[in-house]
Amino acid sequence: MKYDIKNFTLDEKVRLLAGKDVWHTEDLDGKVYKVKVSDGPVGLRTPNFSGEWGGKSIPAVSFPSTQVLSQTWSPSLAYRTGEMLADECIERDVDLLLAPGINVKRLPQCGRNFEYVSEDPYLSGIFGREYIKGVQDHHIGTSLKHYCVNNQENSRLSQSSELDERTLREIYTYNFKIALEAKPWTVMSSYNAVNGVKVSQHKKLNDMLREDLGFDGLIMSDWGAVDDHVASVKSGLDLEMPYKKENYETLLAAVKSGEVTEEELDARCIKVLELCERCESEKKLQKVESTVEERREAAQRVAEEGIVLLKNNGILPLADGASVSVIGDGATKNISGGGSSRVELDHNVPTLPEELKAHLPASAISHVEFYGGKISRCITNAYGKDAAIVCVDQIDTEGTDRDSIRLSARLEECIIETARLNPNTIVVLYHGSVIDMTAWEDKVAAIVSVGYPGEKGNAALAKILSGKVNPSGKTTETYPMTADDCLANRCHRTFCHSVYSDGLLVGYRWYDTAKYMGKESEAKVLYPFGYGLSYSTFEYSELAITDNGENISVEFDVTNTSERDGAECAQVYYRVPTSAVFRPYKELCGFEKKLVGADKTEHYTVTVPKEYLAYYSTATDKWEIEQGDYEIIVGASCEDVRLTGKIEI
Ligand code: BGC
Repeated sequence: MKYDIKNFTLDEKVRLLAGKDVWHTEDLDGKVYKVKVSDGPVGLRTPNFSGEWGGKSIPAVSFPSTQVLSQTWSPSLAYRTGEMLADECIERDVDLLLAPGINVKRLPQCGRNFEYVSEDPYLSGIFGREYIKGVQDHHIGTSLKHYCVNNQENSRLSQSSELDERTLREIYTYNFKIALEAKPWTVMSSYNAVNGVKVSQHKKLNDMLREDLGFDGLIMSDWGAVDDHVASVKSGLDLEMPYKKENYETLLAAVKSGEVTEEELDARCIKVLELCERCESEKKLQKVESTVEERREAAQRVAEEGIVLLKNNGILPLADGASVSVIGDGATKNISGGGSSRVELDHNVPTLPEELKAHLPASAISHVEFYGGKISRCITNAYGKDAAIVCVDQIDTEGTDRDSIRLSARLEECIIETARLNPNTIVVLYHGSVIDMTAWEDKVAAIVSVGYPGEKGNAALAKILSGKVNPSGKTTETYPMTADDCLANRCHRTFCHSVYSDGLLVGYRWYDTAKYMGKESEAKVLYPFGYGLSYSTFEYSELAITDNGENISVEFDVTNTSERDGAECAQVYYRVPTSAVFRPYKELCGFEKKLVGADKTEHYTVTVPKEYLAYYSTATDKWEIEQGDYEIIVGASCEDVRLTGKIEI
């Protein structure tokens, strides 16, 4: 290593263990390389770098939220997004991107769900892994966040997630286990506590990260998460971000008194110095390979593949020449989430009506703003048109969860009243997470989940609405009928504690298992995990399952039975009917998305490593693969099962 720990004084070592300011590591007046970090997962939020909190961000390309990215079911697009973000970093002299966020979506109302991948830990891990590879292959570091069991925003600084060992391993760190295969340079620890101990000073979790999950990089705190820097250092956390004077003073005193040994201090310092050295040397290899226009194209591609068509009575795609009324404000903005994921633009985004006009030149398209106008004006505009598009926008942000997953009464009323006047009402949702639609879902003709689609979102949406792009996005989070249906919402939760008595039954694992247990009324969901419509129809056939030693190979054919080319994501789940331990009814273990030409058949091959079928045994403290029969279930969604087979392991 270039930096020798012997060359640093005690004071310098203590200083190295916290940032220089909000966005840089300590450089000891030029003695070590100063690492510059920046948010975030969906585009660069590069504050002015004066080192202070706040400050207006430098404009950057706004990519679709991680939620939208995951709905593409296309890990190669996660890689591509990572590549594009690396170029954004290089141009701004940023060494390390504070992303990706892969926390499991346990609660539908969590204010940060839009920044995360899925309710499924395996899928979260795969997308995290590919995103990290994309960024780091271009010599920019990542910070995989937020480790761990950080699944709500309300009282995020004071709350303790209380859970058992098996749930911790199989759900809330399994995502990290997979993403860590890409060797992120850093991991960011989360704000919350786990079983009563703050994660930023949790020795067991830090040891697990390094020893069991194989992480060899630097662990940094989330911003302001360190209360007791002495405990943090002793627990194995390397870097406190940002700098806090009182923490520096307490740590220095603890080192001088011997409470923190020099050996403990050195171990943390070496990690910081390794990161500094790595950033310095990788910088020499950096090369910007994409233009801003190419990045925008990549962002649009993600939106085109990640927007989900949830309902369609046949009104979509819109025919050129159809008269269309667009109602609502969402149609005119670059909608992105709030908080550290917020991206600033330096230009206006073309509105949905403008984009629609380009694709439906023969159509008359009118637009009324929802917030500016009265509901009566909006719905009058919809009357007599061939279709009415109601655009709903809902801004989620970190630091707070939604009080309700329903839309506001005003928005629901607007949808219901528009649908009363126009039977071809299409609801377009610009949103961060799932919505309870029970009040209006059956009254409208079509529903499109756009998510926070980034600056090219309206361009992508217009192509889908006009049929230029055949939708292929599928949900990565279950849409429950109501928030109360989610098992996690029935668990004990106070300001200080969140009891994870739902255990392994997160997301579809609960609804699926409940159905199997005969609790049909509790199991009914609005849209299941893995669901999304296309303008094409697909048939599945010819399932063959083979044991290849370390892997299982699941092969089958998918035929496009329509006259339109379309992409289909097929999902592979496994079930252990005779397991010795409790298991959710079925669990995702693979997937493949392919473009299938009109009237054509494609052969799908999904390779499932056997280790993905393991459960964590608290008796042996090991991952165990059970011997016996496994059921392999191939579905167009978690509920839409198309093929089943068996294999003996
Ligand atoms: C967020 C992190 C973010 C950091 C720096 C924190 O509030 O939780 O995700 O990277 O701020 O902006």
